[in-house]
Amino acid sequence: MARLNGKTAFITGGAKGLGAEMARLFAAEGARVAVSDVDEAGARAVAEEISATGAKAIGFRHDVTSEVEWTDAVAHVQKNLGPLDIVVNNAGILAVKLIAEQTLEDFRHMQAINVEGVFLGIKAAFLAMGARGGNIINISSVAGLMGSPGHIAYNASKGAVRLMTKTAAVEAGALGLPIRCNSIHPGIVATEMTRVNYGVGVVNTVSDAVIPTIPVGRFGITTDISAAALYLASDESAYVNGAELVIDGGWLAGRMTRAPVQE
Ligand SMILES: NC(=O)c1ccc[n+]([C@@H]2O[C@H](COP(=O)([O-])OP(=O)(O)OC[C@H]3O[C@@H](n4cnc5c(N)ncnc54)[C@H](O)[C@@H]3O)[C@@H](O)[C@H]2O)c1
Repeated sequence: MARLNGKTAFITGGAKGLGAEMARLFAAEGARVAVSDVDEAGARAVAEEISATGAKAIGFRHDVTSEVEWTDAVAHVQKNLGPLDIVVNNAGILAVKLIAEQTLEDFRHMQAINVEGVFLGIKAAFLAMGARGGNIINISSVAGLMGSPGHIAYNASKGAVRLMTKTAAVEAGALGLPIRCNSIHPGIVATEMTRVNYGVGVVNTVSDAVIPTIPVGRFGITTDISAAALYLASDESAYVNGAELVIDGGWLAGRMTRAPVQE
């Protein structure tokens, strides 16, 4: 089954982790895929791996914080792969710092990538898709839905992604543009980001203590998230718009309802 047959998808931050997995799955489902990243070698390697399967893919360097680079990137994608149908604003960074230790410089750096990068991606998608329409998927986080110690910059950035998503959905509607925009909110998924910041995947780390608080009893894997992205990217989700899809094994549901009840 090819759920994205004939579509062109552009995925940022696709050199590894969630972005690379989405690129692989989208290509396997019939899409022509563009993979960009500040890690040019990584983006090219993922595109080459996909091309080796017979699918069409390109990989190139692109810093999502630069509006000029967004303009060039979209032109490059449309020239090589055809009109843009799907943009996944996936590129992002995480660093854990207590409020008292958080510098304004580091706070702004995270907003530049996680917020301004997504804003520029939404803007570029609107300009490229226009009346032809398309589909934007923004990767937020459960951290865009709840606060957590040490995450003031990341919480701020992912909360912004959640609401920019809704603005894009309603503004497209107000303008009569057939563009959908939804956000995905992963829980803790094993990637380099969570290995470096939480020790996920490293044996006997404090992160293991979190597992009993996740109803399905494990951290996420990249294919858990790519499957959700595929659904949002496909026409099966034609009536899903401005929505937030939480993919966290039930973790957030538990944190919202769990009260310190004692017998
Ligand atoms: N892994 C998780 O548990 C998790 C949970 C919730 C949300 N997310 C979000 O999912 C997205 C992907 O995360 P991941 O776990 O795959 O991380 P990752 O660190 O494995 O990959 C992120 C990629 O983004 C790229 N990147 C960073 N800055 C960039 C920039 N300025 N321009 C272009 N590319 C840039 C990096 O080079 C890297 O290849 C991020 O937005 C992250 O915040 C991840």
